[in-house]
Amino acid sequence: MNLTLKIWRQAGPQDKGGLHTYQVAGISSDMSFLEMLDVLNEQLNEKGEEPIAFDHDCREGICGTCSLMINGQAHGPEVTTTCQLHMRSFADGDTITVEPWRAGPFPVIKDLIVDRSAFDRIIQSGGYISANTGSAPEANSVPAPRDKAMRAFNVATCIACGACVAACPNGSASLFVGAKITHLGELPQGQPERYTRVVDMVGQADVEGFGGCTNIGECAAACPKEIPLDVISQLNKDLRTALKSGH
Ligand code: SF4
Ligand code: FES
Repeated sequence: MNLTLKIWRQAGPQDKGGLHTYQVAGISSDMSFLEMLDVLNEQLNEKGEEPIAFDHDCREGICGTCSLMINGQAHGPEVTTTCQLHMRSFADGDTITVEPWRAGPFPVIKDLIVDRSAFDRIIQSGGYISANTGSAPEANSVPAPRDKAMRAFNVATCIACGACVAACPNGSASLFVGAKITHLGELPQGQPERYTRVVDMVGQADVEGFGGCTNIGECAAACPKEIPLDVISQLNKDLRTALKSGH
């Protein structure tokens, strides 16, 4: 495949940045999107030009770092992470626009890399759970209903990629925070700090500048881990209960 790429280049946080056009040739449809960018970077290196900075780590859909806006969609045209997106989703001769996440709380560090430490601070604000450390307890000593355990497991798959924020016109982190709240709130081990946790995490999300949820649903549509929209209902329910009970 031969492709035209329009890629956001930005030297640093204070730089204005802009789209630059590149041509890449000989791209296999079996390559991942990141491997295609690797090919482009090798070409740039050979020409003595600065390679494009983009984030990645596991390349297995686990770490959540490969955040790219591809043709205006978070992680591109498939519901997956950018590292698991393959070039067979594009056609020979396509023009592809690649940008970083666009959200105030995720400032651009360089080119396609954004600073997502706002998510880390939200997680930190949630604090600890009152579970004993040491050797693993006998599994049946803390009974958890199967449906609750499964829901907790499903939402624990959130990889903090930030696609939900990038896709949301309000730049809301509600799906991410809802996933974290629901993950711990469904399990017995998460109960002691359940209501202080939700107040603190929502408060931190506000401090970071994330917007509010207006039920648009782009977040869940873009989520590579298919976190359902109802975690936001859970978030609001827990927050209401917490505030009513004076947390
Ligand atoms: S909720 Fe989905 S889109 Fe949002 S950070 Fe978690 S995995 Fe990514
Ligand atoms: S590089 Fe880890 S999820 Fe894509």
